Amino acid sequence: MKYWLGIDIGTGGSRALLVDASGKVASGVTVAHRDMRMEHPMWAEQDPDDWVRAAFEAIRLVLARADASGEDVAGVGFSGQMHGLVLLDANHKVLRPALIWCDQRSQAQVDWMNQTAGADFILQQTANPVLTGFTAPKLLWVRDHDPASYEKTRTMLLPKDYVRFRLTGDFAQDVSDASGTALYDVVHRRWAGPLISKIGVDQKILPAVLESSDLAGEISEIAAKETGLKAGTPVVAGAGDQAASAVGNGIVEAGLVSCTIGTSGVVFSHMDEVAYDPTGRVHTFCHAVPGKWHVMGVTQGAGLSLQWFRNQLGGEFVTRAAQENVDPYDLMMKEASSAPATSEGLYWLPYLMGERTPHLDAYARGGWIGLTAKHTRAHLLRSMIEGVSYSLKDCLEIVESLGVEVQAVRASGGGAKSPFWRGMLANIFGCPITTLETQEGSAYGAALLAMSGTGGFSSVPEACSATIQVKDQVEPQPEQIQAYAVGHRAYQALYPALKDSFRSA
Ligand code: XUL
Repeated sequence: MKYWLGIDIGTGGSRALLVDASGKVASGVTVAHRDMRMEHPMWAEQDPDDWVRAAFEAIRLVLARADASGEDVAGVGFSGQMHGLVLLDANHKVLRPALIWCDQRSQAQVDWMNQTAGADFILQQTANPVLTGFTAPKLLWVRDHDPASYEKTRTMLLPKDYVRFRLTGDFAQDVSDASGTALYDVVHRRWAGPLISKIGVDQKILPAVLESSDLAGEISEIAAKETGLKAGTPVVAGAGDQAASAVGNGIVEAGLVSCTIGTSGVVFSHMDEVAYDPTGRVHTFCHAVPGKWHVMGVTQGAGLSLQWFRNQLGGEFVTRAAQENVDPYDLMMKEASSAPATSEGLYWLPYLMGERTPHLDAYARGGWIGLTAKHTRAHLLRSMIEGVSYSLKDCLEIVESLGVEVQAVRASGGGAKSPFWRGMLANIFGCPITTLETQEGSAYGAALLAMSGTGGFSSVPEACSATIQVKDQVEPQPEQIQAYAVGHRAYQALYPALKDSFRSA
């Protein structure tokens, strides 16, 4: 049997997915990462070698579960959490823990970049404003606070590119992930040389950038021994998790929009021509479809909000789930659905790691507003799901303001597995929410990129049209649209009222 392997380096874990020539999933395995280290509020670090451990284990397991060997794998593709800073020394060793996508410590370096290079120049060079979540200010934080590591840096990689390097021995980045570094010229698909020299970064630390379905190397002898893959198997560059997820959802032509709810939440649209929000509230990045772009709005704390609830307040759900052999999130969703729509005036602000769209505010803090003695745990949970969905609606409205006509939104990611959440999204977005036969998102997109780059299909859109099918569609209900529109307006009024107090927290 011939398979392609998609590997997604997520935040919570690494997933390996084996897909056959017709696009059918043969087997998928996720191996958890160690928890991210949060030494201070708004800091988030992970150990790149822990991603390698988890990814290699997932590869061994996925092959075993499909009863396949490395000989059966025709190509490997990648997806990964974006923006994370991985620094290697001259011996290709990791110099320090990676500052990952949701780490917000670098506001001073963002301010410095804006002063040194000019905010307009940065927008003109990269098509986006520089944000604390992006990679360049993280690199400059290391320059300012860990100069020993900065001095020894010879290579800067993004998370999936480090794992790919450990499989192939070759350095590369891809256009979609490079777009989130704040060092990449998104319009011309090349490193933003003039900006890079203005801020004094050595361009030699930045590897060559490839289109996502381009070949980036082959499995090395040593990685073959560690994973069970065959030495010489071709590996494509892959994409940042959002662009890969969009490929997995078939968002590869104009007019298609997806909403992915993982740790972060993203509303994503394909663009044939590059366009950007003049205030930078949504990101304009290169797509994983060669020569195309995408626009996306990002809610930092989407699935993260529920994960935080589960870990801090949801002990009873975890215990019951273990007894009943079910997922604690299913129990949480069930309880949430027992509270009424709009949670009787209770609102959740999902800013647990600051916020990107629409506020671009690293200082924003989360919380419930509007609690009364009548509210129950079900209200707490429902309001969280509503707050995250309101934030995603803000993303959708900005995407629409760029001229995208939204007929329906394709939902994916852990959050979209819940029919309750999908129904709520339909009512808050005011449009149908569709799901696909294969809801594997980024790992599936990674496998399709591998198929496109190694002979399974001749292009990324062809791979998508041959393999992706809509499974079902939830329609919005007019009376709920009304109720949620009122709730959304009330939610939107909260951030401006609280903004100043977040800065003194
Ligand atoms: C996208 C983003 C997230 C992370 C984690 O800009 O930050 O998608 O990649 O999933």
